[in-house]
Amino acid sequence: MLPAYVPNPIAAVCGGGTPIDFGKNLSDRRRILGDGKTYRGLFSGVLAGISIGLLQIWLSGMFGLIDLPLHTPLSITLLASGALLGDICKSYIKRRLGKERGERWPISDQYDLVAGAFILMLLFDPSWIFTYVTLPVLLIILILTPVLHRVVNIFGHLIGVKEVPW
Ligand code: CTP
Ligand code: MG
Repeated sequence: MLPAYVPNPIAAVCGGGTPIDFGKNLSDRRRILGDGKTYRGLFSGVLAGISIGLLQIWLSGMFGLIDLPLHTPLSITLLASGALLGDICKSYIKRRLGKERGERWPISDQYDLVAGAFILMLLFDPSWIFTYVTLPVLLIILILTPVLHRVVNIFGHLIGVKEVPW
């Protein structure tokens, strides 16, 4: 799951500049996505996720870690881009619900990346999901994700990268 987990924190560190929605509003007079979704965050995050995935592929080739799910360039690209696409879709819905940028939206804020990554996987590489994401694996992901999310965001808030600790 690393290629899906890495993009969000890297986007928080590297993000900023032009927002993806170019600052535009919809007819509800709210931002399409908001200032928390930028091109720099998107591209740096996806690149970082793919980089960590390439490192995983290289390492598993070197040490023969055959018990771990086998990643391919396709699977890591889908996980990394799906994670941030999920994050973008979440912000779109959040704005439609009238929630401000950075406002807390439990469950969605934590699982957007998992949903995005898995939906892209199901669409473009379904055999990867069905081979590796068994029920116990899914359970671990569902438990681990909010815990990691919380820990990383508190850390990000402490070092000044995130305005809010969630
Ligand atoms: N970020 C970015 N581009 C992205 C995703 C994230 O620049 N595509 C950066 C922004 O600086 C953002 C921070 O990472 O503020 C944290 O991301 P997130 O918590 O997803 O954004 P929020 O500011 O909470 O906005 P939203 O309410 O839309 O989730
Ligand atoms: Mg947020």
